Amino acid sequence: MEKIVEVLPSLESLIERSLAIVLERINTAIAERGMCAIALAGGSTPKPLYEAISKQPLPWDKIHVFWGDERYVPPEHPDSNQLMARTAWLNKVPIPATNIHPIRTSEVDPAAAASQYEQELVEFFQLSPGELPVLDIILLGIGDDGHTASLFPHTAALKVSDRAVTVGNKDGQPRITFTYPLINKARDVIFLVAGASKRSALTQIFAPVADANNYPSRLIQPQGKLWWLLDGAAGQELPSKSA
Ligand code: 6PG
Repeated sequence: MEKIVEVLPSLESLIERSLAIVLERINTAIAERGMCAIALAGGSTPKPLYEAISKQPLPWDKIHVFWGDERYVPPEHPDSNQLMARTAWLNKVPIPATNIHPIRTSEVDPAAAASQYEQELVEFFQLSPGELPVLDIILLGIGDDGHTASLFPHTAALKVSDRAVTVGNKDGQPRITFTYPLINKARDVIFLVAGASKRSALTQIFAPVADANNYPSRLIQPQGKLWWLLDGAAGQELPSKSA
């Protein structure tokens, strides 16, 4: 694993740098393999990045969009990660509808939703039984508690290592989430972290020793490249040696 840590002076420069990296990785994936499979993070931090990507002249027919996690709400619910990405980006570009792969969260229970999404990955990537897909880019955020995707501290999802997708749990609310082994297969995992509220979790995530059960983002050790893109407010107290 190659780990790159960049601390940008402002949220604007963080988004600008993140855009440059994501565009370069998308174009490299398309040049090398004819298409790019990218999984999106939810929450609020990536929204300006998605808005910036929507303004780019990309070969949309060669880009397939997945989600690394989803709240267990209907797609029109204000908390939906799918809704956020469609509103900020996907509704603004001529990407084929079949290139958008949302996690289904209605008419099925959470476990069935997780299995269905896993089956969609199996079919899209033409996987053998038990094989995990290699996505080109997985975008992630972290919570103040050190979670990522919907891998929350002290939850059963942290122990799932034989599946690609599982049911997460946030304060009793079900989530659908990539498992950490799936995330770790990606060619590029890009964390986008902004705000002073993330400092404490970052310190534990970057510490030489800490309990991944408490700080699940520590589980993300991809075989590919690991990018930590931070704004100054988030990255201010990181020991320079970890950068
Ligand atoms: C979600 C995300 C989650 C998010 C972090 C950070 O569904 O909420 O996938 O893992 O990335 O909670 O969220 P903010 O960017 O809003 O701080």
